Amino acid sequence: MSYSAFHHVDGVLHAEGVSAIALADQFGTPLYVYSRAALTHAYEAYARACAQRRASVHVAVKANSNLAVLNVFARLGAGFDIVSGGELARVLAAGGKPANIVFSGVGKSADEMREALAAGVKCFNVESIPELDRLDEVARAVGKKAPVSLRVNPDVDPKTHPYISTGLKANKFGVAFDEARAAYRRAATMPHLDVIGIDCHIGSQITEVSPYLDAVDKLLELVEQIEADGTMLHHIDVGGGLGITYDDETPPDTTLFVRTLLDRIEARGHGHREVFFEPGRSVTGNAGMLLTRVEFLKPGAEKNFAIVDAAMNDLARPAMYQAFHAIEPVTSRPDAPRVYDVVGPICESGDWLGRDRSLAIAPGDLLAIRSAGAYGFVMSSNYNTRPRAAEVMVDGDCAYLVRARETVRELFASETLLPE
Ligand code: LLP
Repeated sequence: MSYSAFHHVDGVLHAEGVSAIALADQFGTPLYVYSRAALTHAYEAYARACAQRRASVHVAVKANSNLAVLNVFARLGAGFDIVSGGELARVLAAGGKPANIVFSGVGKSADEMREALAAGVKCFNVESIPELDRLDEVARAVGKKAPVSLRVNPDVDPKTHPYISTGLKANKFGVAFDEARAAYRRAATMPHLDVIGIDCHIGSQITEVSPYLDAVDKLLELVEQIEADGTMLHHIDVGGGLGITYDDETPPDTTLFVRTLLDRIEARGHGHREVFFEPGRSVTGNAGMLLTRVEFLKPGAEKNFAIVDAAMNDLARPAMYQAFHAIEPVTSRPDAPRVYDVVGPICESGDWLGRDRSLAIAPGDLLAIRSAGAYGFVMSSNYNTRPRAAEVMVDGDCAYLVRARETVRELFASETLLPE
């Protein structure tokens, strides 16, 4: 079921009950706007499909780590997937429960392991033998046993952009499928590890179920071998990666996706195991937009440019992955549209947000860059000494500032001059 909290009322784009014009007036631009209802709706599709099954949802914090966003999920009972000590601190500050946190990532430091052990996370998703060694040692030093699952690289093609495909042999992630059984044997001998699960994550913005089924089939084959070796596995973590509609993609809907995977696992005789999902994009992506204002229109012989006040430092996805984000005017004009490249003020040709967009716009107009709730603000930077955008959460008719716009002073407050 498609759902959008972003819709036009009397010709003006609204987030839930609040007009985008009012948001821009009150909070300025560029501005990230999230909808609590859209976050809730997307999360609950997972939660409902998992209800009555042995399955749970761990929201991938990396997609959107704003405390208010995490808090919306925490209030709904979500678990979290983190990849750093920083994300651990955010989840705890947002009211997430440590016992519902899985800790992923290919390069966890000893400090991060210590912090996660002290907090009491549910599981460490370990990606290599040296990481197993380090975790065993850290757990020994603090007198604990670390709950562990190994991230296995199932070598399936998720058919997505190469930068966000992670489950191929050529990727840096996970333990190679052919080496996984031996790695499990090794882990079982480590006295300070408690091996409890298996894990994979094959990529992101995946719009078909078949790569997941291939991955699950391979994982289950391995699970049977590992148990034959005497290690019992309590859970199977299938990672995140379900895609969303940015343009004309048609990903499976969440309920169908979750049920198809759970049914396959059950049909193969593994229904007694708990299944973890780690969605990021599919619970946050379409719950956010980036509002920006047109500064100048610059017609040219080959191209027309619409120069806006948001840039690649605010939303890196177009520059980084040639990603498409729909761009629409907040209010429509009767004028004939023109084709523009929508670009930011940064001194890089790669600073574009949308190419060849047909728009009827004038300087001062507001544009909404859609589907910016995932990997938007979290990937933003201060390049060109641009303060990062403010973030707002809309809830019904109310808008809450959930991250203040940075000031230029803050940007260099911790820098110093050399002595005279
Ligand atoms: N679990 C693990 C271990 C992950 O590495 C990721 C994402 C997820 C879960 C969540 O995946 P999602 O459901 O969001 O696809 N910056 C890129 C996406 C990078 C994804 C990295 N891993 C982008 O903007 O497209």
